[in-house]
Amino acid sequence: MERRPRLFDKAKIITVYNQKGGCGKTMLTMQLGGLLAMRGYKTLIIDMDKQQTASTWFARAEARKKEPFPATVISLKSDPEHLIGALRNFSEDFDFILIDCPPSTESQIPWAALNVSVVGIVPIGPVLDNIWASREAFKLGDEAKERNPDLKLFYVLSILKRGRIFESCQREFGKIDHIRQGLIPQLGKGLTQRNAYAECQWFGTIIHGLKQNRPAAAVEELDHLADDFLKVFDIKEKAK
Ligand SMILES: Nc1ncnc2c1ncn2[C@@H]1O[C@H](COP(=O)(O)OP(=O)(O)OP(=O)(O)O)[C@@H](O)[C@H]1O
Ligand SMILES: [Mg+2]
Repeated sequence: MERRPRLFDKAKIITVYNQKGGCGKTMLTMQLGGLLAMRGYKTLIIDMDKQQTASTWFARAEARKKEPFPATVISLKSDPEHLIGALRNFSEDFDFILIDCPPSTESQIPWAALNVSVVGIVPIGPVLDNIWASREAFKLGDEAKERNPDLKLFYVLSILKRGRIFESCQREFGKIDHIRQGLIPQLGKGLTQRNAYAECQWFGTIIHGLKQNRPAAAVEELDHLADDFLKVFDIKEKAK
């Protein structure tokens, strides 16, 4: 079996993926990556999506000339060779590298990224189309695990809303084999739909960086997510 190249053993590489568009991949990558950086971990976000949402968000902070976005964000051509080359170049310099994948099923990026990652995170919104698509995402993760036994898969509930339909959908999600059998654990309690998340793009920051109207509940849900994430690596202390 071909193992994950040892070359990448310094930085912990995380793939955020799901073939489904608009399920919260970039929001999760930017909030988690930014928070890890704020906690003192050297964090790089690689934007592999040609929509360039993550890198435009990052550039927004630069353009406002106030506080820089907490993590470093680079944008790469959506080509597996570019990704592997960048990981080779940057692995020594960072504690965490988060890869924000494009949504398409045809893209080779999620596959290439999962093959060199220690963690794959699938964001899933509480609507049936997201839940149906998650089966494909979990299948891709399982296939990657066969080649990369270091890979652990998790899901994060994203864009959570109030309402009976969303609760019913979450129950439906619980019936999916991987979830029912506990094969893919949840990270955090989920990210709720809030205006504050949209404001983060406006100000080029993350929830913790908002200077006003920073909802305590959003801070709490992100802290919980980051704490859960760090537990995966048995990291309990803060980096600084
Ligand atoms: N918790 C949230 N609260 C409010 N808006 C959110 C939240 N999470 C995501 N959004 C918004 O929902 C939309 C989809 O989120 P996002 O861009 O993160 O999804 P994506 O999976 O990266 O999409 P794509 O597949 O197009 O790359 C965006 O407009 C984003 O700003
Ligand atoms: Mg995106």
